[in-house]
Amino acid sequence: MAETIESPTVATKRCAVVTGANKGIGLEICRQLASKGVLVVLTARDEKKGLQAVENLKATGLCNVIFHQLDVMDPSSIASLGDFVKSHFGKLDILVTLFYWNQRFTT
Ligand SMILES: NC(=O)c1ccc[n+]([C@@H]2O[C@H](COP(=O)([O-])OP(=O)(O)OC[C@H]3O[C@@H](n4cnc5c(N)ncnc54)[C@H](OP(=O)(O)O)[C@@H]3O)[C@@H](O)[C@H]2O)c1
Repeated sequence: MAETIESPTVATKRCAVVTGANKGIGLEICRQLASKGVLVVLTARDEKKGLQAVENLKATGLCNVIFHQLDVMDPSSIASLGDFVKSHFGKLDILVTLFYWNQRFTT
C-alpha cells in the first residue's frame, strides 16, 4: 500500500527512497531530506509502523513524505516499490539503503 503525490509536484522536486525508515537513522534521514524540500518515500517492512512514522513527520509540518511498504529481504516487495517509483515519479534522485548495506556486509 502507498499514498500518492500530485504529478506537478513530482516534476519540480528531487525524489528519494529511504529503506528501513520507520525509526532510527532512516527516519532521521527522511526528516532531513523532507525539510530540504525533497519528496521522500519512507519505506518500512511493517505498514503500520511506516504509516505512523509518516504521520509523525506530517505532524511536524513535513508534508512531502509518503509511505510505501518495503521488506528488503523480499524480492516481490522490492519489485512492487520499483513499480511504484517508476509509475509515480518516473525517476529516482536519491536512494538511501542503510539497512541493506548493513545486511550485505555483516552476514
Ligand atoms: N545507530 C548507529 O550508531 C549505527 C552505527 C553504524 C551502523 N548502523 C547501522 O545502520 C542501520 C540503521 O541503524 P539504526 O540505529 O537506525 O537501526 P534501527 O533503529 O534498529 O532501525 C533499523 C530499521 O531497519 C528496519 N528493517 C529491519 N529489517 C528490515 C527489512 N528486512 N526490510 C526493511 N527494513 C528493515 C527496521 O524495521 P523494524 O522496525 O520493522 O524492525 C528499522 O526501521 C542498521 O543496519 C545499523 O546496524 C547504526
